[in-house]
Amino acid sequence: MKILVINGPNLNMLGTREPEIYGTTTLEDINNSLVEFSKTISDDIELSFFQSNFEGEIVEAIQKAKGNFDGIIINPAAYTHTSIAIADAIAAVDIKAVEVHLSNVQARDDFRKISYSAPNCIGVIQGFKTDSYKLALLGLYGCLK
Ligand code: DQA
Repeated sequence: MKILVINGPNLNMLGTREPEIYGTTTLEDINNSLVEFSKTISDDIELSFFQSNFEGEIVEAIQKAKGNFDGIIINPAAYTHTSIAIADAIAAVDIKAVEVHLSNVQARDDFRKISYSAPNCIGVIQGFKTDSYKLALLGLYGCLK
């Protein structure tokens, strides 16, 4: 089972970025611990990782996933709240996707309460910091197996 994990803008700065909101774990550490966690679910899970600060690159990564990946875990970061293009890309490829947020966006600024991508995902996990990614993988695996 091939899963693509996509992270959007500013998530490359995790570790030092607003640690009171996002914690102190780097994206590399999140990715490494997700690989370790995946082995506790199944040895059939193969994870690939992509991060970009550019909307179009994220759209292209989603498009290229068609035929190459069984599922997508995506933290669109700020594009969650603005990007119809990313939402459309998820719908276009017809790959099961889970939206992830480190923080509970419903408990933050009003503009963060809107997600364009969530309706095109099978579920949303938010508020559990780095564990959000693990819970997303667990849920996605359950839907795909
Ligand atoms: C985020 C929440 C977004 O509102 C924010 O723009 C981010 C990170 C999260 O993981 O909590 O960059 O997606």
